[in-house]
Amino acid sequence: MKWDLMCFFFFLYLEVEMAASATFTIGTTQTGRSLPQSNSFGLKINSQVNFKTFSGLKAMSSLRCESQSSFFGNETCAALRATFAPKAQKENQNLTRNVQPQASYKVAVLGAAGGIGQPLALLIKMSPLVSDLHLYDIANVKGVAADISHCNTPSKVLDFTGASELANCLKGVDVVVIPAGVPRKPGMTRDDLFNINAGIVRDLVTAVADNCPGAFIHVISNPVNSTVPIAAEILKQKGVYDPKKLFGVTTLDVVRANTFVAQKKNLRLIDVDVPVVGGHAGITILPLLSKTRPSANFTDEEIEALTVRIQNAGTEVVEAKAGAGSATLSMAYAAARFVESSLRALDGDADVYECSFVQSDLTDLPFFASRVKIGRKGVEALIPTDLQGLSEYEQKALEALKPELKASIEKGIAFAQKQTVSA
Ligand SMILES: NC(=O)c1ccc[n+]([C@@H]2O[C@H](COP(=O)([O-])OP(=O)(O)OC[C@H]3O[C@@H](n4cnc5c(N)ncnc54)[C@H](O)[C@@H]3O)[C@@H](O)[C@H]2O)c1
Repeated sequence: MKWDLMCFFFFLYLEVEMAASATFTIGTTQTGRSLPQSNSFGLKINSQVNFKTFSGLKAMSSLRCESQSSFFGNETCAALRATFAPKAQKENQNLTRNVQPQASYKVAVLGAAGGIGQPLALLIKMSPLVSDLHLYDIANVKGVAADISHCNTPSKVLDFTGASELANCLKGVDVVVIPAGVPRKPGMTRDDLFNINAGIVRDLVTAVADNCPGAFIHVISNPVNSTVPIAAEILKQKGVYDPKKLFGVTTLDVVRANTFVAQKKNLRLIDVDVPVVGGHAGITILPLLSKTRPSANFTDEEIEALTVRIQNAGTEVVEAKAGAGSATLSMAYAAARFVESSLRALDGDADVYECSFVQSDLTDLPFFASRVKIGRKGVEALIPTDLQGLSEYEQKALEALKPELKASIEKGIAFAQKQTVSA
């Protein structure tokens, strides 16, 4: 049985009680086998759970295809695995001293009162790796923070409203997630958002540079193809740019690709891993179906239909919401997965791989989404193998996306270079 990242759904399906000691109780049921009750290592489970029913925040390792990523972190997952293996009880006791979730990272969400920000904040609150969750918005975020703070998971939740509180929000933060900005309305392209969101990202990244220049920065605000280059330029102007720590969040493209491919090919969703490269808008989103794991055969029609669906999945949601915004819940899920992966990497997990839009030399473009290995200091390696041996369809699509992606990157750089940011 695979155990990758199923733990996210523990929190959605199960009642979780996490005391300050990081002891927690899982107490709702799904059909399946009975779990032993044990509190010997701070993990008390008193329910019946069938883990086959769970899937979750899965970032399959490109290299070994067996990463273990979850809101609990590797050690806790190992503990869970041991718990459910009847013969492993002794081992559990030995693990006791090692598997207490380490709630030691500070995460800030900028734009936390929004459609993405709220569920994202809730999901981050579930992570035992987080000690402090800082919620910032120009709109009143007190209610969101008060609400989320009642969840009995370890992290302390603080609210920060308005520009005057931004610096305090960011002090000492390890990971900054930026979903602030305007979402797409029907008929709008991501580039239509540019003028509003470019300024928002500029201002927020300026504050990050001033207050937590060493933090991982996750940019969600669209158009990511431009907002990431904007962030890079601002950080350069401030003299604190570390390309290894600046990430455009493209995880939703991977999540969608995995879901749609699993549906189409009738595969177990938890096993499916489709790398998505390029950028994060329209044709710049390039799912590499030929690299699907487990390997699957697609007809030309299926490749075309799946590729187009993955590229336009955002529009599918925008149109279904009919004026009430863009993807928020699936986006929060995807962003939470990326935060969790970053926290695991910061925590020393040596097996963290995610697709992200980052500074890159894999192509002739200065930024490019690909699978990357994330470590304590950020991007440790760009993974070139996904781009090798592409199908003819993918090779053509890759060449076709480059001019559009290049233009979006240059638009962002030009915007940022017109700004005067005090060093
Ligand atoms: N990367 C992705 O895959 C992806 C997917 C979906 C949406 N998005 C983008 O995420 C962004 C947010 O979408 P949403 O649906 O949550 O929008 P929303 O309007 O519901 O929420 C945005 C929040 O940002 C806040 N905000 C605006 N300016 C701010 C500032 N200067 N500082 C702090 N907060 C500020 C608003 O008050 C609001 O609470 C949009 O740009 C959207 O296009 C990205």
